[in-house]
Amino acid sequence: MTANRRLWLKQIGLGIASIGLTNIKSYASPILSENIFDNLGNDDKIIILRSNENPYGPSPLARKAFVDNINISNRYNWDVATHLISDIAAKNSVKAENILLGAGSTEILDVVAKFASLDKGNYVIADPSYDYWTVTLDDLGLKKNKIPLTSDKKINLQAMQEAINKDTKLVYICNPNNPTGTISERNELVNFITSVPSTTLVLVDEAYLEFTKQQSLCNLIGTHPNLIIAKTFSKIYGLAGARIGYAIANSTMINNLASMQSNTNNSVSVLSKLAAIASLKDDKFVYDCYTLNKTARDFTISELKKLNCQCIDSNTNFIYFSLANFKKDYFKLLENNNIQGTRFYEENGKWTRITVGKMDEMKKFIKALQ
Ligand SMILES: Cc1ncc(COP(=O)(O)O)c(C=O)c1O
Repeated sequence: MTANRRLWLKQIGLGIASIGLTNIKSYASPILSENIFDNLGNDDKIIILRSNENPYGPSPLARKAFVDNINISNRYNWDVATHLISDIAAKNSVKAENILLGAGSTEILDVVAKFASLDKGNYVIADPSYDYWTVTLDDLGLKKNKIPLTSDKKINLQAMQEAINKDTKLVYICNPNNPTGTISERNELVNFITSVPSTTLVLVDEAYLEFTKQQSLCNLIGTHPNLIIAKTFSKIYGLAGARIGYAIANSTMINNLASMQSNTNNSVSVLSKLAAIASLKDDKFVYDCYTLNKTARDFTISELKKLNCQCIDSNTNFIYFSLANFKKDYFKLLENNNIQGTRFYEENGKWTRITVGKMDEMKKFIKALQ
């Protein structure tokens, strides 16, 4: 065998068959593992508190699903989508016809944006809220109407309601809200949704709802055909990199959204779908993450308060706090300690956000600020 051919065989990992499938690192190409894989998120030297990922995930069942099924990645396996949709529907007490899968909830937000923009008009969104995805709405010509939060950083549902007019194609509610971590009461949301004209889409983003004890609004889809719920496996399920999310809505709405997606339900890889199926079975993992997050969050909030930082009560895996009374250079301290945080969301009041990582990471974060 020539040296080139040996190298080529090594690089495409033909050693896999004899090694077995239990240890991914053992058959990753040495070139890839040394130069690329080692610095993609689980590097002990860098503390990533930036994007509200789950520091404990994926769940052990999801990891096993990935590894056990690598060898079927050569097939399209469209049936896996049907299986996942049926499991998601059961979990949320809706029907399979009420579910649309996307590559992360980002794809779901994007197809909703495309559908909402078929006619010209405006959209209503809280400020600050999760708005990276709204670039599609802007590009497609919908006018943005940003509604400030209340003074306690909650979504101002009344002002949002008042902002809706005959040209409003979409109103977006992030519950709990990113970046503030605040939650709207369920009965207030139900009243709000009921008040919205049926010609306006109501998009409720429940990316972080599993960090709360509040029930999803998905049981309202039968009575509110304009309601779309966006959900994701990226947060408490720990599958951010696997890119898998979904919409729950009335079946007509799901068909409308599906028509905006070129490969309906199949932009997600088979492995990610199988990992999501496994994740849905791992209630213990979800419960453990909920508890660990709460403990680390409570600790961080109490320590931030000792450092004169005003904190907003969080219902999520991140904390919104003010640096107005923090006299040191926060961003420099993060940089010096290899900690990745975020920016100011509101310059006025110097409000920023930090993701809740593992307890030892949060201790290092606080130590860096002290
Ligand atoms: C509120 C909210 N919605 C949606 C997303 C997108 O998540 P993904 O595309 O990974 O499902 C995020 C990501 O941070 C988020 O914070």
